[in-house]
Amino acid sequence: MSHNTIALNQRQQPLDHLESVWLFGYGSLIYKADFPYLQRRPACIWGWQRRFWQGSHDHRGTPEAPGRVATLIEAPGKRCVGMAYEVTPDVFSHLDHREKNGYLRFFTELQWLDEADSVQGLVYVAGPDNEAYLGPASEEEIARHIARSEGPSGPNSEYLLNLANSLRELETDDAHVFAIERALLTEKSG
Ligand code: SIN
Repeated sequence: MSHNTIALNQRQQPLDHLESVWLFGYGSLIYKADFPYLQRRPACIWGWQRRFWQGSHDHRGTPEAPGRVATLIEAPGKRCVGMAYEVTPDVFSHLDHREKNGYLRFFTELQWLDEADSVQGLVYVAGPDNEAYLGPASEEEIARHIARSEGPSGPNSEYLLNLANSLRELETDDAHVFAIERALLTEKSG
């Protein structure tokens, strides 16, 4: 699959007939809401885990030297905490462009953190079949990769540190993200 997913997302899933759509963010979409939204609420999805396994050619790296950013990996029984935004469908032209480097969007159930209720919402996932996918590596290796990467949106380390801080604000534990953060900070101070 080509790593530019704009056309695929728009063809597979037209949204214009909807009044508003919920979007679940688990990576940079938690801390960088550079789009208008009607409301936002902390939420989680079940059956998925955050992993720094996706290459970034356009934000935190380049095609020659991709950075490492978050995607979701199927993990039955696990939950991934993030931020949900209610947006109008036109916002997806911006979002599809922003998430074009391998991410496909699909509908899943979003559960609120502060209420026992749920709603259907979209989430962008970069699966193993996209050209920018990097896959697993040790958390120390991922930290070293992030420490040396940079792209048009800034240093890759900024992505990691902002995400880790947002997860602390959401009072959620994410052993993978926090282990990479620890390894990066140790490397920087060493
Ligand atoms: C997301 O944040 O939900 C998708 C991945 C990213 O843009 O970092």
